[in-house]
Amino acid sequence: MIVDKRVSGKTRIMGVLGNPVEHSISPQLHNTLSTRLGIDTVYVPFRVEKADLDNAVKGLKALNVLGFNVTIPYKKDIMKFIDDNTKEALLMGAVNTVKNIDGRLYGYNTDAEGFSRSFKEESGATFKGKNILIIGAGGVSRAIAVKTAIEGAKHISLVNRTISKALDIAGIIENNYETGIRCLDSEDKKYKDAFSEADIVINTTSVGMYPEIEGCPVDKKINFMSHQIIYDVIYNPAKSKLLKKAEKSGCKAMNGLGMLFYQGIYAYEIWTGIKLSEDIIKEIYKSFVNILKN
Ligand code: ATR
Repeated sequence: MIVDKRVSGKTRIMGVLGNPVEHSISPQLHNTLSTRLGIDTVYVPFRVEKADLDNAVKGLKALNVLGFNVTIPYKKDIMKFIDDNTKEALLMGAVNTVKNIDGRLYGYNTDAEGFSRSFKEESGATFKGKNILIIGAGGVSRAIAVKTAIEGAKHISLVNRTISKALDIAGIIENNYETGIRCLDSEDKKYKDAFSEADIVINTTSVGMYPEIEGCPVDKKINFMSHQIIYDVIYNPAKSKLLKKAEKSGCKAMNGLGMLFYQGIYAYEIWTGIKLSEDIIKEIYKSFVNILKN
């Protein structure tokens, strides 16, 4: 019998806290990273009921874990149990990464950082001086709106069927950044203009996600222009109906796979204090794509 030596008395624990967590590929990503780098950590899933969240966080502290990710539906709820949330995470209203240093918990949002990096890498563009149209006004939309404002976006149009949620995000942007912002629903007369004025369109809703792959968050009447960049946070399917339409119009089109990957890379760097080289990142990305395929 082969002796399994992966976990020793010195191994530090990391994990993901959420409900459900069974679908998460983060354990495979982080454990692959640790094996590749020879770092003595193990990453495990923690399925937690809402009523137990407080106790779960206290438990993780008491067990002296190195850190943990937070996923749906606790990215907002977790914040009240964290000792220090970054300013960005507070404005984004969500924490997805927590580091434990001597029993003190530090909260970060690496989703937005992951989004920004993958967008820039794949499109070759930045947000500075750009007109951006964001579809949806949930947690992901808020994080992306704040991040693009931080990175110098000129104007954001927020399109959402529930206008009150868009207005909440607009208030945060108006109070903290120079970026202009307006809120629209898809019935709005200015909807078509907002699309034609946008340099970058970002879908943050689940419309078009597996298994409802025929859904498209953009009205049929809207035409894209080839200079526009279209980003869909959906990565299953790899090419949503929105991205297919964008490609047909000659636009640069990209999905949320890179965002998912880089949020994990940034979390890992925060927990371990290691700055991963570009070569390692490229190598791990190949394994990551294979994890998703299988
Ligand atoms: P997340 O944290 O992933 O952003 P969320 O907070 O539930 O998730 O937000 C999902 C967003 O997608 C919301 O803006 C939601 O619209 P409402 O604010 O009107 O609820 C939007 N969304 C989800 N399903 C949708 C659908 N079928 N049509 C239009 N918008 C949809």
